Amino acid sequence: MFNIVIFGAPGSGKGTQSENLIKHYGLFHISTGDVLRSHIARGTELGKTAESYISKGSLIPDELMISILADILDNTPEARDGVIFDGFPRTIPQAQALNTMLAERGAKVDAVVGLQVDDEELITRLLKRGQDSGRSDDNLETINKRLEVYHSQTLPLQEFYQKQGDFLGIKGTGTVEEIFDRIKAAIKEKCGR
Ligand code: AP5
Ligand code: MG
Repeated sequence: MFNIVIFGAPGSGKGTQSENLIKHYGLFHISTGDVLRSHIARGTELGKTAESYISKGSLIPDELMISILADILDNTPEARDGVIFDGFPRTIPQAQALNTMLAERGAKVDAVVGLQVDDEELITRLLKRGQDSGRSDDNLETINKRLEVYHSQTLPLQEFYQKQGDFLGIKGTGTVEEIFDRIKAAIKEKCGR
């Protein structure tokens, strides 16, 4: 397995750069936000629970999120060769659970691509997207809450992955192509592919 975590604040370009990573490395993509939004769109029980957290900009509880991810890994044959994890992990317990889940499959996190964009640019991007995204969390109040949650609960993962030797900090501004060139170069240097 070849596993990449794409890490960064709301609006940092995780989804955008995942598309490039999918094409380039041919890996399976898991965006936990997309998974939850698909449940919301289908009106499932999980969707109802998820919407109550997402619309407030809070994180879904770790235990629930980890079980959703384990279920996808267990039941998706296409994930066998490797995964781009987008939006997961977001807390230290989620990162520890991911290490365990991958170790059970004889695999590990190979690289963590950390997209670095300042808050002002993030807010501009998300408000712009909010004009037509239909996402209940793309409004100024919820964006500010998402950023606060990112800084307090998710950013500590940077140090977690630095200690593990996997963190690749990438300047996340410029054109989508420029950023992807930086990502490819950093992964090549670390992983040789
Ligand atoms: P999630 O769906 O993961 O959203 P997010 O982290 O808030 O990030 P976004 O998807 O908004 O941004 P992105 O980094 O993908 O950027 P994008 O490429 O779209 O999570 C949503 C919610 O679900 C969470 O708040 C939480 O409630 C819940 N959740 C999800 N995972 C969870 C977990 N593991 N644990 C607990 N709860 C969880 O780009 C943004 C915009 O910028 C786009 O319009 C794009 O076109 C534009 N853009 C991209 N690149 C550039 C560029 N280089 N220059 C200019 N504009 C650009
Ligand atoms: Mg996204």
